[in-house]
Amino acid sequence: MKIDQRRLIRAAAEARAGSMSPYSRFAVGAALLTASGKLIGGANVESASYGLTCCAERIALFKALTDGERDFVAVAVVARCAGGPMPCGACRQLLAEYAPAATVLVADSADLAAVRRYTVGGLLPKAFRLVP
Ligand code: THU
Repeated sequence: MKIDQRRLIRAAAEARAGSMSPYSRFAVGAALLTASGKLIGGANVESASYGLTCCAERIALFKALTDGERDFVAVAVVARCAGGPMPCGACRQLLAEYAPAATVLVADSADLAAVRRYTVGGLLPKAFRLVP
């Protein structure tokens, strides 16, 4: 499937507006693209009990999964950081389990036209799995 990179990055940038990040003040937006062309956005949510914080990628993925979505083509992540935010290890694990074929796009919110592309397999080779 041809990925409309600009549309997906724009969706992640828009989702970023929903970030609840009063502690780090680092707002992150993510958007998943399904095989049917649907976009599901999410943003990071932080807690005063810092370890409860959930990244934008996982919020978007959990929203999509619990809405019944299963087939993910790509995920975009946007934040104000040079080169764009790289997904953390926990998000890589979840993406490897539920979106293993997805292309990962990252961009700096200050320069949405400069997009870096990765694969989930490239970001987390030999991922832990209990089911095939
Ligand atoms: N964060 C994300 O939402 N996604 C990433 O890819 C990296 C980090 C969030 C977690 C926390 O709310 C803030 O960024 C600072 O770590």
